[in-house]
Amino acid sequence: MSSRDLKAPFPWFGGKSRVADVVWRAFGASVPNYVEPFCGSAAVLLRRPGGPGKIETINDLDCDVANFWRATSRDPEAVARACDWPVNEADLHAMGNKMLAGLEEHRARMHGDPEYFDSERAGWWCWGQCTAIGGNWMTASGSKALPRLCGWVTGNGVHASLPALGHSGRGIHSPERSELVEWFDALRSRLRRVRVACGDWSRVLSGAVTGSSNSLKNMGMSPCAVFLDPEYGSDHKASYAEGSQTVHAEARDWAAEHGNDPHFRIALCGYEGEHELPDGWTCHAWKATGGHGNRNASNKNPHRERIWFSPHCLPIHEQRSLFEVQP
Ligand SMILES: C[S@@+](CC[C@H](N)C(=O)[O-])C[C@H]1O[C@@H](n2cnc3c(N)ncnc32)[C@H](O)[C@@H]1O
Repeated sequence: MSSRDLKAPFPWFGGKSRVADVVWRAFGASVPNYVEPFCGSAAVLLRRPGGPGKIETINDLDCDVANFWRATSRDPEAVARACDWPVNEADLHAMGNKMLAGLEEHRARMHGDPEYFDSERAGWWCWGQCTAIGGNWMTASGSKALPRLCGWVTGNGVHASLPALGHSGRGIHSPERSELVEWFDALRSRLRRVRVACGDWSRVLSGAVTGSSNSLKNMGMSPCAVFLDPEYGSDHKASYAEGSQTVHAEARDWAAEHGNDPHFRIALCGYEGEHELPDGWTCHAWKATGGHGNRNASNKNPHRERIWFSPHCLPIHEQRSLFEVQP
């Protein structure tokens, strides 16, 4: 599997694979330090042209997302084995209940021990993500979600744990077992040196990680590219197990504050009109596809996707080599 084909084995609401090439034009594929504080399916990292950079850090507050990436980078075979399971609604509910019961302990261990991961849980989580309708199936496993079966039709922000029968070939349900193992092994190779953090986004934007305040800068680890893809203001609680209504505004404030520093190349995602950024930033319009909500003709959100690029990003429309030499 070539690095250009590599993708997460589960669908993720708000995934950015369609626009990843544009982001890498703005960052430059050889940028030495890359930080993705809201990684979800890590679509941008996985589509980096030319393979890994020198330092790469991904993070997500959702302890099942972070566990998936940690476990896949350490024990891909066990994760592949655990998620190779037929579509079955009873299993979906039973696994969801079992995982919810263990969630607090799992979260505490994920936050408390950088070496901790649970491969079986990672595989089950991935299986559920590919089997249930909607965004994050773990938010669906609570009883409150069950009445929301209207999502079977529109799927917009749905959390009902109903197997997505229209998508029986989705994610891990499409390949044969051997292909599945190969897929997870390719992910392990790609993730070998990627640092996976689990916590609030701001923790991976400290000077120690970005290199803005330590010797990394003098060791040639500048510039640092930061891909900020917080849940959008209007998507709050639509599809993620973790998050808050203010995170998009906090991320924007961080971006605006650091945009003029030549050490940073920053990309910030949001809907049209969601962010106002200082002079020197540019805005790129793109169209999302996929997702149950996007199949609803009255849903205009796919057309409202924007990415704001900071002043020290590279021009995205100029023809240049993706492997340009750093100045
Ligand atoms: C729009 S999604 C990111 C999608 C990702 N770029 C992709 O391509 O799959 C936003 C992510 O932010 C995570 N998140 C929400 N609040 C967070 C926080 N305070 N810190 C870190 N991650 C957070 C969610 O779990 C979710 O995975």
